[in-house]
Amino acid sequence: MNSKVIDWYEQKEHIDEMKSWDKGKLKIWEQQVADRFPRGAKILDIGSGMGREAFSLYKQGFEVIGLDISNYAVEKAREESWKANNKVEFYHYDGNLFPFDDEAFDIVILWNQTFGLLYGDDYKKSFLLECKRVLKPGGLFSYSGHDLKYIREHYDYCLDDDKFYPYQERDIYWETFSLEELVNYTKQNDFNILMSGQGEIYVPEDGVVLYCLCQKGSGFQMKKDSSTECWSKVGAEEWIKAAQNNDFRNYFIMPFTLQAMGEVKEKHILDMGCGEGGYARALAEKGAVVTAVDCSDTMLAYVDDQAIKTGLDIKTLLQNSNDLNKVMDNEYDIVLCSMMLMDVEDLEGTLKEIHRVLKPTGKVFISILHPCYKPKESKWIIEEDGIRVVVTDYFYPTEWIGEIKGISAPVVYRHRTLSDYVKAFTRFGFLLTDMNEPIPTKEQMEHSKRIEWLSKIPMYLFMELENK
Ligand SMILES: C[S@@+](CC[C@H](N)C(=O)[O-])C[C@H]1O[C@@H](n2cnc3c(N)ncnc32)[C@H](O)[C@@H]1O
Repeated sequence: MNSKVIDWYEQKEHIDEMKSWDKGKLKIWEQQVADRFPRGAKILDIGSGMGREAFSLYKQGFEVIGLDISNYAVEKAREESWKANNKVEFYHYDGNLFPFDDEAFDIVILWNQTFGLLYGDDYKKSFLLECKRVLKPGGLFSYSGHDLKYIREHYDYCLDDDKFYPYQERDIYWETFSLEELVNYTKQNDFNILMSGQGEIYVPEDGVVLYCLCQKGSGFQMKKDSSTECWSKVGAEEWIKAAQNNDFRNYFIMPFTLQAMGEVKEKHILDMGCGEGGYARALAEKGAVVTAVDCSDTMLAYVDDQAIKTGLDIKTLLQNSNDLNKVMDNEYDIVLCSMMLMDVEDLEGTLKEIHRVLKPTGKVFISILHPCYKPKESKWIIEEDGIRVVVTDYFYPTEWIGEIKGISAPVVYRHRTLSDYVKAFTRFGFLLTDMNEPIPTKEQMEHSKRIEWLSKIPMYLFMELENK
């Protein structure tokens, strides 16, 4: 730990100031994270200060140990603990090695933006290694940081480049982050992101910070292939914006799919390749029990975050669709594959897994880009009096790297012919029970000019399968 930071926190007035902010409870975002902690878990609170988080978590039934670089703070927190007659212990350390055994804790927290006091990437890396060492396999780690964008908008005069100097004496500063940067530190060190976002403090005037909850890699690695590799590099923020503003998706594909799925109350549904989770939320709102699967941990973190904000019960899993090793056999009534089957590298492995996790009479709802009208060698020609599609090669190429509007990372596009799909479905134990090329309704066409094209030529194909 930087010696200036240590000196700063040995000064009585700085620790006493900390006490004055104490509202005796967790901040809003902290409580949302803590709601995900397993009951009775053993927590290491790093940067425990005067014990605000440690005492609140203790009162909620957790076993908590505090750790801090400030002798003064540790002494004061111990006094408080003794006065309150509780069992929270506080220890001092030098900011490097934690005085605990390997795998001693279920959870490590580093809140109050202390992550921004770990100056430089090398120090952060060795610190994260220490966190990993003391965490049990699958243990949770949560941390927070100042949001550069928010600080720029509200405290620009305290910024020097991306360093935040909230105090006039410019002895110490807090590094600030974008959400992607913050999340990347743990992602690159074998943690899986479970939740991340902008967290509210106590009241709106307090502003926001960035936070993350992640899980120590438990030896489990998602099976990687070209589809998971490219899609996990698609920026979640860009994707969320693109998906939530896409007229075809929101006014045509999604309503058609949800209507075709019918009554879903209490049905167990697996939303495969869930993306930003719009379908998962819509289905959970209708009373379905939803598991959302994707190969992008940042998209899943958004799905988790939204589920918490909306109070919907959606479980997320980071998996390649061809290896659902966290899902049991015969678990689901329905598998939804919205606009994802054409993206996967391993269609056969994916169908094999869908067949395995579906109940015997389970159903699959699929939407894909229509293979007849959207292979690579096709041109959609918009004319005054109508539309023409010219397809010059229906069979090739079967794979190419392309772009999605609004998304910086390239993705691998795949084309399979109609007969490729149907043969694969039958080979893996499915009955094709329905197939639709719906014509948009008048109201749908009123939403956007482009949707009108679909009344002449179908860009999307919808299929329904049943487990044989
Ligand atoms: C075009 S998006 C569709 C998202 C969502 N279903 C929707 O319709 O809004 C395709 C999604 O599939 C995911 N995906 C691609 N290949 C995958 C694979 N092999 N396993 C799991 N998810 C995959 C991507 O990360 C992405 O979220």
